[in-house]
Amino acid sequence: MTDAVGGPVATGMSRRTFASDNWAGVHPDVMAAMAAANVDHTPAYGADPVSQAAVGLFKQHFGEDAEVFVVFNGTGANVVGLQSLLRPFEAVICADSAHINVDECGAPERFLGSKLVAVPTPDGKLTPELVARAARGVGDEHHVQPRVVSITQSTEVGTCYRVDEVEALGAWAHGHGMFLHLDGARLSNAAASLRVGLGAFGSAAGVDVLSFGGTKNGAMAAEAVVSFGAGGASSLRFLRKQSMQLASKMRFASAQFAALLTDDLWRANAEHANRMARRLADGATRVPGVSLAYPVEANGVFALLPPAATETLQQEYPFYVWDEDTGVVRWMASFDTTEDDVDGLVDAVAKVMAAQ
Ligand SMILES: Cc1ncc(COP(=O)(O)O)c(C=O)c1O
Repeated sequence: MTDAVGGPVATGMSRRTFASDNWAGVHPDVMAAMAAANVDHTPAYGADPVSQAAVGLFKQHFGEDAEVFVVFNGTGANVVGLQSLLRPFEAVICADSAHINVDECGAPERFLGSKLVAVPTPDGKLTPELVARAARGVGDEHHVQPRVVSITQSTEVGTCYRVDEVEALGAWAHGHGMFLHLDGARLSNAAASLRVGLGAFGSAAGVDVLSFGGTKNGAMAAEAVVSFGAGGASSLRFLRKQSMQLASKMRFASAQFAALLTDDLWRANAEHANRMARRLADGATRVPGVSLAYPVEANGVFALLPPAATETLQQEYPFYVWDEDTGVVRWMASFDTTEDDVDGLVDAVAKVMAAQ
């Protein structure tokens, strides 16, 4: 339960919460796909027909040049993907709010052996200008060498990069001999919000490697590294295994992606979660004294509440305090959040604020 600072936590586990989209369960179609894959003996480590079919679906969405490496979790996807782009004296430029910087327990630093250069941003988003200021010391043996720009889509604060913003970063990175990595734990939410396909954030936009998230979109433990051939792409098979991210019974993770990538279930789930976040933002900001800290562009709502109101509300609703200094709280909507859930939280917010 640690993808944000300032733990919740109320006790009511029997209902849907707004703590995180990974508090949700598994989408029924995803569960059914796993059950359907649970027959017979089949080759391990991804050589089975379900995994092959899932790779085909990834290629349909991301393009024929996409190479797919299914892994267990998002931290692993980021570490394995970045590893294929970096040598130990090379650095990753990322937003200071990036999951790789604040929520992965130093896994990138430990397993890549590389420095993360964290850049403050107003909205979780890097720009070529921000990156240019951080990409210093090129050619100087005393400095780490900037090699990768890493962005998160949608960002940790619920904003989205437009396609042209990703393209600009890709062009900047490539123009400076660097690579563009995209942490897409919530790429589905961004693509749904922007009404584009997943492939809009692949090689066409200049992305070299991305992490594609299944878990927050209705899967159970399924994430993937998608590489478009840059850097040490040919080493990814080996890096995944060495990084302990190669599932032997891969068919069950692959089945989850096959379900999400068929008939655009990924989009339906993401659109729904985004819509619920919008409803929540609209409802909460109608309450006097509540304002938004960031624009709501995906499935996260970041709101400013007085600390006393937050404490009271957390007795009833588990959610994270995002920033203890400012009092910003985070509410995440999921594929299974209902309008009643949202309206219940809005009512509770109205009650605690009225009592302030
Ligand atoms: C932006 C982002 N990246 C990656 C992850 C993946 O994390 P995990 O290793 O918990 O699957 C998360 C999960 O919270 C996330 O929010």
